Amino acid sequence: MTQVASGRIGLAPMEGVIDVVTRELLSADGALDWTVTEFVRVVDTRLPARVFLRHCPELETAACATASGTPVHLQLLGSDPEALAANAVRAQALGARQVDLNFGCPAKTVNRHDGGASLLRQPERVHTVVRAVAEALAPLGIAVTAKIRLGFDDKHVALACAEAAESGGAAHLVVHARTRREGYRPPAHWEWIGRIQARLSIPVIANGDIWTLEDYWKARTLSGCADVMLGRGMLADPWLARRIKHWQRHGEMLPATPWSARAEILHAYAQRMRAHLPEKVVVSLLKQWLNQMRGRHEEAARRFAALRRRTELADFLAGLGPMTPATDTQPRVDASGERA
Ligand SMILES: Cc1cc2nc3c(=O)[nH]c(=O)nc-3n(C[C@H](O)[C@H](O)[C@H](O)COP(=O)(O)O)c2cc1C
Repeated sequence: MTQVASGRIGLAPMEGVIDVVTRELLSADGALDWTVTEFVRVVDTRLPARVFLRHCPELETAACATASGTPVHLQLLGSDPEALAANAVRAQALGARQVDLNFGCPAKTVNRHDGGASLLRQPERVHTVVRAVAEALAPLGIAVTAKIRLGFDDKHVALACAEAAESGGAAHLVVHARTRREGYRPPAHWEWIGRIQARLSIPVIANGDIWTLEDYWKARTLSGCADVMLGRGMLADPWLARRIKHWQRHGEMLPATPWSARAEILHAYAQRMRAHLPEKVVVSLLKQWLNQMRGRHEEAARRFAALRRRTELADFLAGLGPMTPATDTQPRVDASGERA
């Protein structure tokens, strides 16, 4: 792998997974450049403040950022241009510094109600929605960005959708390198992001199946993008962003993320979630996270097999092992990628 110049790293929005707690935990080392909320679903009304605050408690911080200072962008999902614009304005009034539009959600219920990836079937609708929000936000001094897949059923609209987002006024475009029909099945078509990147003038951000440093390098090489967005890879390896930043900066690889660090983040997550969720729900959320880790880490796979039937939280946490503080092995990364 040839060392590549620095590039930004975003944390992908993941409904039901990337909430305020995971945003805070995964951004704690300072290696992520931005995060995105779960989507706020807009139909045809202006939503009350509490809906925005529930999805994005960080609105109440001075810079709409996580505790480590990582910006949080507020994601909207919908298809009604006026309603999206009105809600984007409300989000800004509540403290949002950037609004992101979701054109990638594959969920049947969302698509049936004309949201998420369903708009990719008509690129002109992507344009209309982005333009309405961009025009509403421009006088307020904040940007709108967009996230798309390569199409709904096939890729013939990929370039048209990307261009529609750009001409509508998106400040950047994240491309998840699969169609809606392809779901989450590998491979991610990073070379398709390259075609889009070559056509657009705004920053294009490569997303999909970046699980390791090697994947990062391949995705950047094939897409030609400087910036990437990491989703499941950050759950599988919470040090992934730091690993990439360290390599960008020093041209050397960090050792594999030890089990102690993985267990520590799961313990911290449980402790935070337990404050507002029933024990059984916390256990199933922990299983969901450990399930993402197990595919790429032997010890995680072993623990998952041993713990999958446990239902008591204390029992489950005991099975993760002692909460050995891995903080001394987790240097913070400053904005330049240097250890702080
Ligand atoms: C459980 C789950 C929920 C997701 N929710 C959203 C969402 O709310 N908005 C969105 O734009 N993408 C959503 N995505 C897509 C991710 O942001 C990302 O594009 C996709 O997972 C590919 O990246 P990855 O391979 O790095 O995970 C979701 C993905 C998963 C697995």
